[in-house]
Amino acid sequence: MPAEITRTTTPFPIRVPTIRVPIAGPGGLHLRVSSLWERRVLPTITVRLYGTILAVVARHAGRGAADHQGKVAVVTGASSGLGRRLAADLARAGALVVAVARRQERLRALTAEMGETSPGSGYRVCDLGDVGAFVHLLEQVDEEHGRVDILLNIAGVGGVLRTLPATTESIRAVMEVNFIAPYAGMLAVLPGMRRRRSGSIVNMSSDDGRAPGAGAGDYSASKMALAAATESLSYEVRPDGVHLHVAYPGWVPTEMGLKAVEHGGLRMPPRAVRRTEEQVSSLILRRLDDPRLDINAAALPLAAPIFRTLAPRAYQWMRAKT
Ligand SMILES: NC(=O)c1ccc[n+]([C@@H]2O[C@H](COP(=O)([O-])OP(=O)(O)OC[C@H]3O[C@@H](n4cnc5c(N)ncnc54)[C@H](OP(=O)(O)O)[C@@H]3O)[C@@H](O)[C@H]2O)c1
Repeated sequence: MPAEITRTTTPFPIRVPTIRVPIAGPGGLHLRVSSLWERRVLPTITVRLYGTILAVVARHAGRGAADHQGKVAVVTGASSGLGRRLAADLARAGALVVAVARRQERLRALTAEMGETSPGSGYRVCDLGDVGAFVHLLEQVDEEHGRVDILLNIAGVGGVLRTLPATTESIRAVMEVNFIAPYAGMLAVLPGMRRRRSGSIVNMSSDDGRAPGAGAGDYSASKMALAAATESLSYEVRPDGVHLHVAYPGWVPTEMGLKAVEHGGLRMPPRAVRRTEEQVSSLILRRLDDPRLDINAAALPLAAPIFRTLAPRAYQWMRAKT
């Protein structure tokens, strides 16, 4: 008996054909393909399959450890979370690390830890809201150590849903820390890197930048702006052997990540995008000297642009709920 096709509407705002496939003799069992869609079996299988393929590709692409022995590195956001982990791991990998943040006690503790493997490592207290002070700090590090080989712009604010309406001042504060400071920092260290024909910069973005949800538009915009500026600059400096990267860490249970879930109205992200500080740090450090721009710790978010193109209404319906 041939398959019978009609159209049906499902809980997802997509019209899918109803295909009845006879799987036993006449009058016997039928499999209705649209019911698999209605029960979210097909969307789940499709997304999981796509995620698995991307994860395998991403894992394979990230292989090969880099040598950071003797390099001079500046890491912002080093008082907690991803920045702290990256600074400690870089020091363990032999780099001289200058850790940057506002909370001095935490930076002191980190410096003691880094000193076990990298005695020259230290810290500088700096509020990145003062962009001029950050640029000056980078110039001082360059003078003191003769160069900056690695700049990791990890500090960030605002990754939680707003409880108060945004103001000009609050928008500016997010943009300064998340976008203007790292962009100005790149411009400060790039001339030296280009002269030496080597150097790596990683700017921490977010999947909220390339796939914004509701409630933190300034945060999403700042992360997207940073990604766009980094990509644009990367084409200028690539011929000089300098590697620029935009990192997307997935969701990590740091102070910011947990605050977003516990107090910021964010639903606990699916397992496929949950990562540890250790996983994100080791991926970023392996990819520092790699020519590829994007560093994706989780593969599932890469499906978003495809989903929003193929099924825009379903995409928006789903994104509005997360
Ligand atoms: N965790 C996630 O799931 C996730 C997902 C996507 C993207 N990210 C991004 O990853 C980066 C690291 O965040 P995290 O998750 O590790 O959060 P975190 O533990 O809260 O770390 C944020 C860091 O930024 C520093 N910082 C904030 N405002 C600053 C300022 N005005 N001046 C100097 N430093 C400042 C903080 O240091 P002080 O307070 O001591 O200054 C802290 O070290 C951020 O850019 C964040 O947007 C995180």
